[in-house]
Amino acid sequence: MERVLKFLKSAQVYYLATTEGDQPRVRPFGTVHIFEDKLYIQTGKSKDVSKQLHTNPKAEICAFQYGEWLRVAGELVEDDRREARQSMLEAYPSLQNMYSADDGNTEVFYFKDATATFSAFSHEPEVVKF
Ligand SMILES: Cc1cc2nc3c(=O)[nH]c(=O)nc-3n(C[C@H](O)[C@H](O)[C@H](O)COP(=O)(O)O)c2cc1C
Repeated sequence: MERVLKFLKSAQVYYLATTEGDQPRVRPFGTVHIFEDKLYIQTGKSKDVSKQLHTNPKAEICAFQYGEWLRVAGELVEDDRREARQSMLEAYPSLQNMYSADDGNTEVFYFKDATATFSAFSHEPEVVKF
């Protein structure tokens, strides 16, 4: 999981895919954080992406850097604990301009049953599960 965190932080941007009915949806994301041995992302309840994850938690993210790409597929489950939100906001002080742990909008999701695959044209896929 540390390798996944390091890759995503270094890439700075990853693309988060969700589904809306039978329509795939994808958008750029940047937040990634480890809290209590789980990999978390952050969003706002007001966003479509949040509604999609609550309807169908199956999600996949993809990032690319230095000739290698990473995909993480699994379920994104909301952690509604204040301490989980607060931990994320402390990891991203810039988010505190827009979000706070008690604003009723901020939410964090962690990956459950995740399969992370590191791929490149130069090596066989390397799989990490967490
Ligand atoms: C580089 C970059 C990083 C972003 N990171 C996040 C993020 O971590 N969380 C988030 O909620 N939105 C983030 N956004 C904004 C979302 O991409 C944007 O709100 C998007 O429209 C949300 O998807 P939706 O419209 O399907 O709800 C980021 C945007 C950019 C350009």
